Amino acid sequence: MPVSLVILAAGLGSRMNSDLPKVLHTLAGAPLLAHAMRAGAALGPERVVVVTGHGADQVASTARSENPDVLIAHQAGQLGTAHAVAQARTALDGFSGDVVVLYGDTPFVCVETLEAMREARARHAVVVLGFEAADPGRYGRLMMSGEQLERIVEFNDASAEERLITLCNSGVVCADSTTLFDLIDNVGNDNAKGEYYLTDIVALARKRGLSAGVVTCPESETLGINTRTELAAAEGAFQARARVEALETGVTLTAPETVFFALDTVIGRDAVIEPNVVFGPGVTIESGARIRAFCHLEGCHVSRGAVVGPYARLRPGAELAEDTRVGNFVEIKNAILDEGAKVNHLSYIGDAHVGERANVGAGTITCNYDGVMKHHTEIGARAFIGSDTMLVAPVRVGADAMTGSGSVITADVPDGALALARARQDNKSGLALRLMERLRAIKARKG
Ligand code: UD1
Ligand code: CA
Repeated sequence: MPVSLVILAAGLGSRMNSDLPKVLHTLAGAPLLAHAMRAGAALGPERVVVVTGHGADQVASTARSENPDVLIAHQAGQLGTAHAVAQARTALDGFSGDVVVLYGDTPFVCVETLEAMREARARHAVVVLGFEAADPGRYGRLMMSGEQLERIVEFNDASAEERLITLCNSGVVCADSTTLFDLIDNVGNDNAKGEYYLTDIVALARKRGLSAGVVTCPESETLGINTRTELAAAEGAFQARARVEALETGVTLTAPETVFFALDTVIGRDAVIEPNVVFGPGVTIESGARIRAFCHLEGCHVSRGAVVGPYARLRPGAELAEDTRVGNFVEIKNAILDEGAKVNHLSYIGDAHVGERANVGAGTITCNYDGVMKHHTEIGARAFIGSDTMLVAPVRVGADAMTGSGSVITADVPDGALALARARQDNKSGLALRLMERLRAIKARKG
C-alpha cells in the first residue's frame, strides 16, 4: 500500500524566543524539519507534504532543499492540528493509500516505529503512536479499552482522574487517506483551547465503528522541541547515541564525549578520531583514516590512510584521496587532493586540485577570490610548492614543477619548471652594523 507523509510545521514555537521558525533550529547539523523528513523518507513515501505557517517561505525553502519534490501546503492561521492536516488535502488529491502525520519539531522518531504503525494498520483504521511518559505533563492521554483506543483527551480537557493516565499521545498518526480526511471534516473546536484537534479523529472513528489502535515506542523517540533548553538536551541525547553507535561500528574515539557528529556523518571501521573533533553536515571518513585532535570538518570526504590535523579545517568540497596529509592550521575548501598529496602546515587551499604526491609548503595560499569571483588553482602531480607561495588564481603549476619560497605566482608554471617570483636578494656588506650604530646614537640623543 502506498504511503504519503504530512509533516506539520506551521507553529510559531514562541517558547524558542527566536526570529527563526522553530523547525529550522539546528540539531546535529540539520534543521529539526530535516530530521522529521528523513525519518519519514525511509518509508518511501509517494508524496511528502509540509504544512507551513509561521516563517512559511523559509520553512518551504528548507523543505525543498531536503527534498526537491516536496509539496507545500500553507496554513494561514494556526487553528489546530486537525486544521493543519486538512491543509494537505489538495496536495494529496488523487492519492490513495496511507497517510502518516509527523511533527516538524519531533526529530527522533525511528523508521522501525513508523513501519510498525503501518503494519498495525492491518488491524486498525487509525493507528496512533503512544508512549509511556515518565512525567506525562501536558501531553494528550490515550484512553484504552483493551486493545482498542477509544479516544484521546487533551491535557486541558482532561479530568483529574484522566490526568493520572501515563500512556500519552506522541502526535504521530497513520490512517487511510480517505478515512483521515473524512474524519477531519467532522472535527469541531468545542474544547478548552478552541482548536481543531487532530486527536479527536479517534473518538470519531470509534463512533463509526472503526477500530483505532496504539503502537508504542520509547519516550526518547517522541521527544518534541519547544524551548532552547529542550533543544540543547536533544542535542546531548543525539550526540550520546551517535558516539555509542560510532564505537560499536568499530570507530576509535579516544575521548568520545568531546567528539560531535552530524545527522549524516559516516565513519568507516578502524578510523581513529582523536579528542575535540566536530563533524558538520555531509562528512564521510573512510576506514583507517585518522582525524587528529581539534579538527572541524563539514561537507568533505577523507579517504583511507589519510591523516588530518591536529587543528585542521576541512570545508565543503574538500576531497582527500588515500594517504594524503593535511596538517596543523590548514584550511581546505572545494579542493581535491590526489593520492599522497601533502599540505602540512599553515596553508589555505581553496578551489583547487592538488596532484598526486604534490607537496605544498608551509604558509602557501591559493589566492582564489578577486573580490567578485572565485578562480581555480591547478597543482600538478609531484609538484613542490615552496613555503609561503601565493598562487594567484586562475593559475596552473605543472607536474614536477617547483616554486621558490615566497613566490607570488601569477602566471602558469610549465611542467618540470622552477618558478621564482620574488625580488632577487641584495646583500649590503656591513650595512646592518652601521645602521644599528646610527639608531643607538639617535636613541642616546633623545635621552
Ligand atoms: C499535540 C497533541 C497532543 C500530544 C502532543 C505531543 C493535538 C490536539 N494534541 O499537542 O495530544 O500529546 O502534541 O507533542 O494534536 N501545528 C500546526 N498547525 C496548527 C497547530 C499545530 O502546524 O494549527 C503543529 C505545530 O507546529 C507542532 C505540532 O503541530 O509541530 C503540534 O502542535 P502543538 O500545538 O505543539 O500541539 P500540542 O499542544 O503539543
Ligand atoms: Ca507541542
